[in-house]
Amino acid sequence: MIGKNVEFAAELLALGKTVAIPTETVYGLATNALDEEAVAEVFKIKNRPTFDPLIVHLDDFGKAELYAKSIPDEFKALAEAYSPGPITFLLPKNEIIPYIVTSGLKEVAIRIPNHPMALELLQSIPFPLAAPSANPFGFISPTSAEHVYKTLGRKIPYILDGGTCSVGIESTIIGMENNQFTVFRKGGISVEQIERVLNEKVHVKEGSTKTLKAPGMLESHYAPKKPIFVGNIEELAEQHKKERLGIISFKKEYIQGFNLILSKKGNLEEASYHLFSYMHQMDESGADIILSEYVPEEGLGRAINDRLRRAAAKSGYVNT
Ligand code: TXA
Ligand code: MG
Repeated sequence: MIGKNVEFAAELLALGKTVAIPTETVYGLATNALDEEAVAEVFKIKNRPTFDPLIVHLDDFGKAELYAKSIPDEFKALAEAYSPGPITFLLPKNEIIPYIVTSGLKEVAIRIPNHPMALELLQSIPFPLAAPSANPFGFISPTSAEHVYKTLGRKIPYILDGGTCSVGIESTIIGMENNQFTVFRKGGISVEQIERVLNEKVHVKEGSTKTLKAPGMLESHYAPKKPIFVGNIEELAEQHKKERLGIISFKKEYIQGFNLILSKKGNLEEASYHLFSYMHQMDESGADIILSEYVPEEGLGRAINDRLRRAAAKSGYVNT
């Protein structure tokens, strides 16, 4: 069921049920983070391997002290600047957070979503919410209640509808590695924005499973059901001219096939807002394959390119 009843969502969560919730990035599949059985159910619903840990959502960064042993001052400064917002912090967990949430890791991922309904919900319950993105494992993340309904609608009792997600791409994950501030996943807060607050360069993990501390960055991820090829659209169209093409271009319109444009103005915020939603639309369209192109590798463009690369990895072909 889809609805806007925050109180009802809170009641279900208090019973250990799973509820899809809106955030500014993507919809989350939320449950009581302190209830191990409830968390196990989320892994099951998503068909997610238990080695891939979940983010814990709070309504106030001040509450991170309830679940983390310590918090570096630099993270407090980042939270001050960007929380609530699309940034997730890896912090040494205390004993309150069950290991199933962190997949056995000693650190817990914590974020404050910047969405009025999510915040209202979090304020109304006495426990934090563990919430991965509300998509079956390996699929495109949902940026609307309808996206969630399409794939998980029959598996969960309630989808809290907070409209379309304003950012449209997942949160940036920052932690420490070898005593260095490290971005483990590029997302809604750009690396440049982080460096501006920290006043130093951060390390950015480009990576796949093998190199990453957290396995969530599996190479093939965020993938549409249809094959997607990323590179020079005209060349790709020539190579695939026998097929019905769906094109997701950055700002230019191409004549071949069904073309969705991420941002005519070339604005990267607008492009990330549209990215996953366009992938969903392409999956539903008559196109046989999807062609796309990389956007400028700066600001949010780095997160967009990261998602395109991972989506294309499933097609076994990446034209970088
Ligand atoms: O924007 C977001 O972060 C969304 C919304 C719903 O908040 N959530 C989200 O969750 O993207 P999910 O589960 O799809 O991705 C979370 C990522 C995974 O790649 C996971 O590996 C990483 O966070 N992660 C979670 N806990 C971690 C930990 N303790 N250490 C390292 N990585 C962690
Ligand atoms: Mg996800």
